[in-house]
Amino acid sequence: MKFDVGIDIGTTNTKICFRDSDHVIVMPSVIAVRKDSGKIVGIGEQAYKMLGKTPDSIIVKKTVEKGVVSDYLLNKLLIGEVLFRKFGNMFRKPRICLCYHSFMTDLEKLTFKNSILKEQSNKLFFIDESFASILGLDIDFSDGKCFLSVNVGGGTTDISVVSKEGILLNKSIQIGVELIDEIIAKNLIKEHNFLIGKITAEKLKNKAVTFFNPSEDLKFSIRGKDIKTRLPKVLELSQKDICKDIKIPVIKIVETICEIITNVSPDVVSNMKDAGIILTGGASLLLGFKELIEKKTNIIVQTVEDPISCAAYGALNSYKFLKQDFSQYVLPA
Ligand SMILES: Nc1ncnc2c1ncn2[C@@H]1O[C@H](COP(=O)(O)OP(=O)(O)OP(=O)(O)O)[C@@H](O)[C@H]1O
Ligand SMILES: [Mg+2]
Repeated sequence: MKFDVGIDIGTTNTKICFRDSDHVIVMPSVIAVRKDSGKIVGIGEQAYKMLGKTPDSIIVKKTVEKGVVSDYLLNKLLIGEVLFRKFGNMFRKPRICLCYHSFMTDLEKLTFKNSILKEQSNKLFFIDESFASILGLDIDFSDGKCFLSVNVGGGTTDISVVSKEGILLNKSIQIGVELIDEIIAKNLIKEHNFLIGKITAEKLKNKAVTFFNPSEDLKFSIRGKDIKTRLPKVLELSQKDICKDIKIPVIKIVETICEIITNVSPDVVSNMKDAGIILTGGASLLLGFKELIEKKTNIIVQTVEDPISCAAYGALNSYKFLKQDFSQYVLPA
């Protein structure tokens, strides 16, 4: 159907794709609105760049924290603005399939339904994010393979074992790689009396982090503020210094992957070992993350071409499954 939409509202990025376009909209889950009128000043990248830099008359807010929508009204405004830019004033409303984490409660689903369904869609479906990630890759289940799908994003990790019969086992935890941004920023305060903003911390993580043998010779210059003088300063640090403690959140993620593996039958594990672990989400772009999971699980890890958008693609693809009566995968709201 022309008006089908797949949406993945993430802690870092909101991804939206439409049936009639190959292009996925990927934007920071941030919106800026005027306090007095509620008028939208910016969404996505434009709003993200305004974080911490606007007068009191403008609210700039992240709409999602650790995978949970923190402000439904602003979230609805953000999604509504994207749909408005695509469809204009909607005479005919789209069907929306939305990714969820397995810890999402019925109350949260109901709130989504009430906040989005009424005005912006005529039907709302939910699909597990890690399952949607696999569907977004157009993987063929017909030969009876099992896949271990692991999607690690900014605020959450979603893991599921998937076969032709559906989701065998899944678990989501509220740990993602935004924690690494926080660790980097906290260490700079503790060890160098040096203050950096959220945007700098994220850029530094994406540029400098590796989970294996960080180099003492590779240097990065970082712009921030000296805490004592409160004046601007440029600090030069080695990759090794920047990577201190970054494995802490990742160890918990790997432990949870191992916990899932130990809970499936030996036949499923041997089947899964052939296909390997399919790693998606922005974290899969971090150097050495794939290798770290391989080392701890003893299972090959496959990364994908478009790890950030694939869950939204999968949500859109799920309509194909709906037609084939795969409705157990997708919960009508
Ligand atoms: N090139 C890159 N290298 C390393 N990390 C990256 C890169 N691009 C994005 N990231 C990181 O990936 C994370 C975002 O990934 P993703 O969009 O999959 O998360 P999300 O869906 O918004 O969050 P969640 O599903 O956890 O709610 C951010 O922490 C971001 O900094
Ligand atoms: Mg995500």
